Amino acid sequence: MKTLTALLASPRKPGNGEIFMRAVARELGSGWQLEIIRLIEWDIRPCRACYSCLFEKCPQRDDMGEIISRVISSDAVAVVAPTYFLGANSLIKRFIDRGLMFYEFIDKMWDKPMVSVTTAGIDGMEGYAKLMLDSAVKIMGGRLLASVVVYGAFPGEAIIGEKNQSLVKLVADSIVNGRVSSSNENSIVCPLCGGDSFRFLGGEQVRCLLCSNTGSYKVDRGRVFMSIEPGEHQLFLSLQQAIDHAEWLRSMKKRFLQLRTELKSIVQEVSRVGKIIHPKETKKVKEDEEARDSQLPSGS
Ligand SMILES: Cc1cc2nc3c(=O)[nH]c(=O)nc-3n(C[C@H](O)[C@H](O)[C@H](O)COP(=O)(O)O)c2cc1C
Repeated sequence: MKTLTALLASPRKPGNGEIFMRAVARELGSGWQLEIIRLIEWDIRPCRACYSCLFEKCPQRDDMGEIISRVISSDAVAVVAPTYFLGANSLIKRFIDRGLMFYEFIDKMWDKPMVSVTTAGIDGMEGYAKLMLDSAVKIMGGRLLASVVVYGAFPGEAIIGEKNQSLVKLVADSIVNGRVSSSNENSIVCPLCGGDSFRFLGGEQVRCLLCSNTGSYKVDRGRVFMSIEPGEHQLFLSLQQAIDHAEWLRSMKKRFLQLRTELKSIVQEVSRVGKIIHPKETKKVKEDEEARDSQLPSGS
């Protein structure tokens, strides 16, 4: 029996994403079982930007380890989240912000079949939510087999109508066959990573917002041709590049230690400016701040 694990970010029980995934599981047939992780029920604390997990263990004592081991032991994974104000809701972001932890297991997560399912209430109003979920899959090292946006506002609407039913089938087929399927064969995709969100930089310059690589495009007889070149930092184009990136991040610790004294005086000078307004419960906030200040700086 194969296991499909759905990481669900909706606070609804059940929400459209969950209903959609249950319908997908019904299509998968008897060789598969669906395991649902409602992220809202799990203790996922924010990344503290300490980078400790790159060297030893993450200091957060929460459920991340358990979720990662379930991802690793699954045969396929679905990342599912609702659109809130044009982006994926914050629960999925909180999960993916802990992604430095994934590097310890990257060889076990690499190339795992994954799908992304974005739900949205209004046709065409998913904003950048789909990009966030595709990115979540890639950051986990997954092989993105299908990425769909499912429209429906009230729980249940996600599986109503021909279009949504065909998306259920498309996602199920891609999982069963381990084959990349697209809900829009005409969409223009990045030749490096398959992403379909771009920033037009002026002239013919374009950047893929999924893999962050830049290149150019041209239009010939109504067809768009993209040429995107890999840049210096690659997060997920190959396993080796993901491993190399983790190694580069680790090497930054040495650089930080070299710069620390210089940075300290710059930080001290500017930190006299402004006043921090703490909430009423100041003690915990202060503790958190002290813990954070003693760690490495963010920015990579
Ligand atoms: C706070 C909030 C913000 C929302 N923002 C959007 C939005 O920007 N675009 C959209 O199409 N739908 C939006 N919706 C609708 C949900 O995306 C939609 O109901 C979806 O089916 C929810 O999926 P779920 O049931 O799996 O949680 C929003 C819903 C909420 C509660």
